[in-house]
Amino acid sequence: MEQKKIKVAMIGMGTVGSGVYEVIERLQKDKLAHKVGAAVEVAKILVRSPEKYQSQVAAHTQLTTDWQDIVSDESIDIVVEVMGGIEPAQTYLTEALRAGKSIVSANKDLIAVHGSELEALAKEMKKDFRYEASCLGAVPIVQPLKENMAANNFSELVGIMNGTTNFILTNMSEKGLGFDEALAEATRLGYAEADPTADIEGLDAGRKVAILANLAFHTKAVFDDVHVEGITKISALDMKYADSINCVVKLLGIATKEEDGLVLGVYPAILAKSHPLASVGGSFNAVFVKGDAIDEAMFYGRGAGKLPTASAVVGDVIDVCRDIMAGCEGRIGDYTYEAIPIKPLEKMESRFYVRLLIADHPGVLEEVGGCFGRHGVSIAQALQKGSVHAGQAEFVIITHEVMEEKFNKAIEELAKAKSVGRVENVIRIYGGLPQ
Ligand code: NAP
Ligand code: HSE
Repeated sequence: MEQKKIKVAMIGMGTVGSGVYEVIERLQKDKLAHKVGAAVEVAKILVRSPEKYQSQVAAHTQLTTDWQDIVSDESIDIVVEVMGGIEPAQTYLTEALRAGKSIVSANKDLIAVHGSELEALAKEMKKDFRYEASCLGAVPIVQPLKENMAANNFSELVGIMNGTTNFILTNMSEKGLGFDEALAEATRLGYAEADPTADIEGLDAGRKVAILANLAFHTKAVFDDVHVEGITKISALDMKYADSINCVVKLLGIATKEEDGLVLGVYPAILAKSHPLASVGGSFNAVFVKGDAIDEAMFYGRGAGKLPTASAVVGDVIDVCRDIMAGCEGRIGDYTYEAIPIKPLEKMESRFYVRLLIADHPGVLEEVGGCFGRHGVSIAQALQKGSVHAGQAEFVIITHEVMEEKFNKAIEELAKAKSVGRVENVIRIYGGLPQ
């Protein structure tokens, strides 16, 4: 009997798409039939400039610039979207589901905003919608939250969710590279988004926080619910101060469930070197989850790049193929069934690192201490590093835990204080400090 053939169409053949093609058509070619019980081939690829890709594809793969070639082709079972952006990706994936095809996507920009609409449509059409690669590249976290850890009530997810910024921060602190040099290298290695602003300003990690919060807390959070800050304000000096107290600076994505709501944020944070996330370097990502049954678990791996991301995409393709063979596409469906209010970050308690330029004369510390004291901010540690310019000294303060809105008021007052030249930087501290 002739073996069944499952036909895949791809949208996009860039960094991730070329990796997906390589894994399906070369690295896994002989194994897929055993893994899924059917032959799998990439039959069509939609791109804008086919001439760029002709030499990379086999004779059985047709490059096209016309979406109708794919969506109207009844022999295509699965559409893999690795193009990026909201439109036309949303239209294509919606039309693919309506045409009876299961879909796989790596597109966090789209899923963090319209994921729940695609989930609902996939459920209605009894088709699969898989998106493991949209969060943390090769690190398995989407399916573990949906399946392996479904028995948990989660209280927190915290992680390093962007490969580009982790690569930049690691190279700045460990190799002394400048910001621009490290970003250029991350772009060359295929980690950065088409517009790297999305990486360095924290937007990319913010999209992942929204997607993972939906899965962990069964709620329809979207990207706009996430407080987002990037890494551009972090200097080598801040990293040196962090190092002097046995800490590192990392861009963290955090989703915390409090009694009165969900706090979602992405921001640079100082954390103790003893925390498991502190040793996650380069393009590696990791996410640390806390659940009532699991206690704590950490997932770790390459967060970006051609083959690591392709691993997650093709893993999804394999699962969809298995569902097709078992006649159970659409098995899991949408399960965002709670409406949890979003709580602003200002209502959370945190410790803070503050770097100031102050006048280098007696009595200054009293004025600085007074600004903090009037707003209930108590100082845990102070590091004065001597004169930097004529008459000015650098002063770094670590606070005890305080509600962020109170702390912000103290900083506003401090910025106006006579003896303060400038508030140079403020960074939140995640977790406890080393003893
Ligand atoms: P990329 O290298 O810029 O590739 C984009 C591909 O999509 C190109 O082949 C391009 O074809 C095609 N394309 C763009 N607009 C199109 C349109 N309107 N119609 C048809 N084809 C179009 O991007 P990438 O880095 O592979 O990223 C793809 C997706 O994966 C994004 O959603 C990204 O966020 C996500 N992702 C990336 C990584 C990573 O490490 N890079 C990791 C996880 C997830 P032409 O060259 O012909 O224009
Ligand atoms: N630009 C993203 C990153 C790709 O650097 O993490 C993976 O989502």
